Amino acid sequence: MKRALTPGTFDPITSGHLDVITRAAQLVDEVVVAVAASPKKNPLFTLEERAQLVRQATSHLPNVRVEPFDELLVDFAARMDATVVIKGLRAITDFEYEFQMTALNYQLNQELETLFIMSPPQYMYLSSSIVREIASLRGDVNGFVPDCVKNALEAKFAR
Ligand code: COA
Repeated sequence: MKRALTPGTFDPITSGHLDVITRAAQLVDEVVVAVAASPKKNPLFTLEERAQLVRQATSHLPNVRVEPFDELLVDFAARMDATVVIKGLRAITDFEYEFQMTALNYQLNQELETLFIMSPPQYMYLSSSIVREIASLRGDVNGFVPDCVKNALEAKFAR
C-alpha cells in the first residue's frame, strides 16, 4: 500500500490545500493529512479545531484521513508508514523555502520522497494568512475556503 503525507499547518485549510489533497488521493492508496502543531506560528485555530476542519472538508474523500502531529515530519512519516510527502507548489516564491525543507528532510531520511503538485491559477496566490486577514476584516472568503471553514471563520471573528 502506498501511503502519502500532505503536511501543513492548515490555519485554516483553504480550497488550494483541498485541491492538493484531492489530487494526491488520486495518486496513492491512502493520504494522511498531517496537521502540524506549529506553535511558533501562533495559530488562530487550535490544533484540534484545525484537524477537525480538515476532517470535515475531506469527509467526501474515502482514502483520506487526518492526523495532528507535533514532531519532526520525517519521524511522523515513519510512524505512519508513509513513504512520500506531497506538497503544493504555488508561485515561484514557494520554491526557495520548499527546496530547503525538502533538502533537509532528505538528509534526515533518504527513504522519504517529496513530490510537488502545481497549484492551478485560481489558487496560485491563495494562502491561509490572506484568508485570515480577509475574514478578520469581514470580507467574503467564498470560494477561497470550504464552507465549514467559512462558518468557523465567521464564528471566530464574530466574538
Ligand atoms: N494552497 C493554498 N495555500 C497553500 C498551499 C496551497 N496549495 N500550499 C501552501 N500554502 C500556504 C499555507 O497555507 C501557508 O500559508 P500561511 O503562511 O499564510 O499560513 C504557507 O503557504 C506555507 O505553507 P507550508 O509550506 O505548507 O507551511 P506550513 O507552515 O503550513 O507547514 C510544515 C509546514 C508543517 C510542513 C513544516 O513546518 C514541517 O514539516 N513541520 C514539522 C517539523 C519539522 O519536521 N521541521 C523540519 C522541517 S525541515
